[in-house]
Amino acid sequence: MWPYPRIIAHRGGGSLAPENTLEAFQRGFNSGFRAVEFDVMLTKDLVPVVIHDEEFGRTIRGDGRVSDFLADDLLKLDAGSWFAGQFAHSRVPTYRKVLEFCTQHDIWMNVEIKPARGFEALTGEVVAEATREFYQNTNYELPLISSFNLDALSVARPILPDFPFGVLFDQLPADWQQQLRRFDAVSLHTNHQYLNEQRVGDIKQAGCALCCYTVNDVIRAHNLLSWGVDALFTDNLTAIIADFV
Ligand code: G3P
Ligand code: MG
Repeated sequence: MWPYPRIIAHRGGGSLAPENTLEAFQRGFNSGFRAVEFDVMLTKDLVPVVIHDEEFGRTIRGDGRVSDFLADDLLKLDAGSWFAGQFAHSRVPTYRKVLEFCTQHDIWMNVEIKPARGFEALTGEVVAEATREFYQNTNYELPLISSFNLDALSVARPILPDFPFGVLFDQLPADWQQQLRRFDAVSLHTNHQYLNEQRVGDIKQAGCALCCYTVNDVIRAHNLLSWGVDALFTDNLTAIIADFV
């Protein structure tokens, strides 16, 4: 049985606010969401921050790379006006700030380790160490740690032996069951577009939990859950919440 929430706000607050910003987490929370997924990457000075793209251009205007910026400089940049002018004050949050916000508000987390190219193992290590340090001597519910990047996961796993892990694949490789065992993972996370009822049944037969992204259509969400999908990530918080939460 999947012990975690079934509907998870993607990138903090889905499409309610600029992704992976504190405003997104706050709006998701205000809308009733109590489960989030977000992406963690390293700055040049190895500070874990919550952002999806390693290159600027989409959520941060201009040219640049997260891994070339010191945290102090990155955290000054506008990470919200791409979404709407009213969010021009939104900034990239540190991982620590997001952990604090979510634990204070009792929000369940799926932490996706999102290394920039060339920093895979280092990102796994630094994010795992930051996570271990944050949770030690606390009673907070542990987050689920996941990544597409198997090098990051293999470094993170021994640092966080008591944490639940998930393995992320866009399309499942032939050895996905082996990879789940390798990381002692509780869940398989994958793109819902490649799933159908038969495929979900086959995966569930293997005995793992199945989570899928990014499900924004309410009917599709109902279908996936009825086929046995355990949890889904959504950007469409408004419609999905009206139906599920
Ligand atoms: O963790 C699920 C989902 O977030 C994976 O895709 O690209 O949105 O990080 P992406
Ligand atoms: Mg993600």
